[in-house]
Amino acid sequence: MYSWALITGDAADTVDARQLRQALGAFPTGVCLVTTTMPDGKREGMTINSFASVSLDPPLILWSIRDDTRSAEAFLASRSFNLSVLNAGQRELAWHFAKPAADKFERYAEAFEAGSNECPRLVDSVATFECSTYSRHQEGDHTIILGRVDRFSRTETPPLLFHSGQMGSLWELAATLAQPR
Ligand SMILES: Cc1cc2nc3c(=O)[nH]c(=O)nc-3n(C[C@H](O)[C@H](O)[C@H](O)COP(=O)(O)O)c2cc1C
Repeated sequence: MYSWALITGDAADTVDARQLRQALGAFPTGVCLVTTTMPDGKREGMTINSFASVSLDPPLILWSIRDDTRSAEAFLASRSFNLSVLNAGQRELAWHFAKPAADKFERYAEAFEAGSNECPRLVDSVATFECSTYSRHQEGDHTIILGRVDRFSRTETPPLLFHSGQMGSLWELAATLAQPR
């Protein structure tokens, strides 16, 4: 069954937020972890899927953060952050960092090392980008954060994917979908 939301004029009043989230979730993405360290040494991290590449010269990436989320204060003030593309074996870690908690890193002490920018860096990932904050753009209830890539690493491991509220490997998610005719 298909539904169609007509967006005209004062669109925001007519769009159902839950249905919009479901429609946006139909777009399959990878899953990333962003981390930063605050001036007092406290580490923050959260699971995101709003990652996108922006520019090769200079090397820029972006992601967006919901302004009222617990860790927004840290990320919106940070001068640097690390962004890791998670691998198919990191689903539990991804769900853990997708919930608010005072110290999310305690449970995964072995999984992180200090990056060259002092922000926590995942030891294992598909790819990791160590970034300096380049610019921020507040739009609606989110802020788009652009990072300049200072260093990066890459491996050949298969990625973790997100689609319609499910996280898993390509093979796990494929098994939940009907075969196209
Ligand atoms: C797959 C997935 C992708 C997410 N992407 C984003 C995102 O791009 N931006 C965002 O602000 N929150 C995103 N979230 C929600 C945050 O992970 C969640 O709000 C988390 O609690 C934020 O950390 P905090 O509560 O410590 O601030 C995502 C959650 C999941 C499961």
